[in-house]
Amino acid sequence: MKVIRTVRELRETMDNHRGQGQSIGLVPTMGALHDGHLSLIERARKDNDIVVASVFVNPTQFNNLDDLRTYPRTEEADCDKLRNAGVDYAFIPTVEEIYPEPDTRVFDLGPVAEVMEGAMRPGHFNGVAQIVSKLFAWTMPTRAYFGEKDYQQIAVIRRMAELEGFSFDIIACPIKRHDDGLAMSSRNVRLTAEQRAEAPLIRKTLLESVGMKETKSIDEVKRFVEDTINASPIMRTEYYEIVDSKTMQPISRWDDAETAVGCITVYCGDVRLIDNITY
Ligand code: PAF
Repeated sequence: MKVIRTVRELRETMDNHRGQGQSIGLVPTMGALHDGHLSLIERARKDNDIVVASVFVNPTQFNNLDDLRTYPRTEEADCDKLRNAGVDYAFIPTVEEIYPEPDTRVFDLGPVAEVMEGAMRPGHFNGVAQIVSKLFAWTMPTRAYFGEKDYQQIAVIRRMAELEGFSFDIIACPIKRHDDGLAMSSRNVRLTAEQRAEAPLIRKTLLESVGMKETKSIDEVKRFVEDTINASPIMRTEYYEIVDSKTMQPISRWDDAETAVGCITVYCGDVRLIDNITY
């Protein structure tokens, strides 16, 4: 595996592979890699001739400086994992390399970006669109891979790709979970032992709520999920919304969407965990 640090080398290397008719799979990450990321790489490996993974903690998508400061950074371990996973290129730039000057672009991301994460984290999705559009333009992959844990993020990236005219495949990959159901996340390492033991309640509650769909209204299911999780002395829901899987807009009746997805954010202590489930 070759580590690439500059945009210029990334562009030249990718142009070269494309010129030889090879397919390129791009896996954007912020590092602190876990099996969830590795499952994206495994899928990219299967689908493409060449796999490039980026490791960059993108400052423009953090609306909370403390979150940016405490975000885990584990470059050496990440490189080992990428190498073992069969990645061809790891793109690991500095902030100055990506943003030699401030990125002032404002994307018209529309309704998909206005609710849930968009409402709770102002500017977050614009920052995601900034970095992902740069990675897309520099790599011009055949396919790009994102995890469904960040369900809304995928809808936002699809919208950005449509706006910018990127027509390659954006592939959504299923959430990887620990044996006890907790969704894998780089933030899980910040959980104390007590918080880690409590966190699987999120998945357990969401699963239980799916069984209620036939007999309960959306409001009743939402109340059940919120009340069950908030009964924990150390967890607090930030939001729980049941939305149309395509538009990300909250629905009030099950019939309002072909596929309904419940998206949740929970503070476990001060660690923000997100998850989702299809009804
Ligand atoms: O999901 C993430 O890890 C980030 O939002 C992404 C897509 C790598 C952009 O920084």
